[in-house]
Amino acid sequence: MYLFANWKMNPGSIKEAEKLAIETQKFLSIEKSKVVIFPPFLYLKTIKEKTDLALGAQNCFWEQKGSYTGEVSPEMLKSIGCQYAIIGHSERRKYFKEKKKEIKKKVNACLSAGIKPVLCVGETKKEREDKKTKKVLESQLSFLSQKKALIAYEPRWAIGTGKTPPQKELKEVLFFIKKAFKSSVLYGGSVDGQNADLFQRVGFDGVLVGGASLKPREFAQIAEKLES
Ligand code: PGA
Repeated sequence: MYLFANWKMNPGSIKEAEKLAIETQKFLSIEKSKVVIFPPFLYLKTIKEKTDLALGAQNCFWEQKGSYTGEVSPEMLKSIGCQYAIIGHSERRKYFKEKKKEIKKKVNACLSAGIKPVLCVGETKKEREDKKTKKVLESQLSFLSQKKALIAYEPRWAIGTGKTPPQKELKEVLFFIKKAFKSSVLYGGSVDGQNADLFQRVGFDGVLVGGASLKPREFAQIAEKLES
């Protein structure tokens, strides 16, 4: 099982990031799971130096270098020992207007640099109510011909809300994605110490945890649930 921690734009300082990473490592007693921490870019190198945790970035650009002010490339991530990058997270689609065209370029740039992309897909509340979930996922995944990307199914309405889809719905979506792609599929959206085993039971290959990954004891609890 994959256990991914998306710290988003947290915590607020390098000192706190160091503490969070060290505590995360301390509480985890993992044997079977593949744990990866996705901190803000700025903290990657320090965490790499202070812990043995595997690392990923929360985003990256689609070119490897050049005149792209403010951007970070997959090649740069690779050079500091980063192995993964989250691409197309719904917050990036929402706040930075990332569209399929850019997301596709980012996924391909990661693959050519040897970074494993974690492509995030998921429907909004309205799309779910209109029964458009599969259509939305089909479109968001349409460019993905390679098997090397990981897919994270994150219903937008479930992110940070404490809500999760019913088991039957989760099964249907997972079956739908797995039918088209051989990739590993993770679930993300309000995963916590209480509900983590549900996603394993349904058949997901792991979880992408946001809020609960900022609490080392709860994150360790998720790990225990996944391994039990
Ligand atoms: P959450 O975030 O666990 O806080 O809902 C998940 C994510 O956005 O990846």
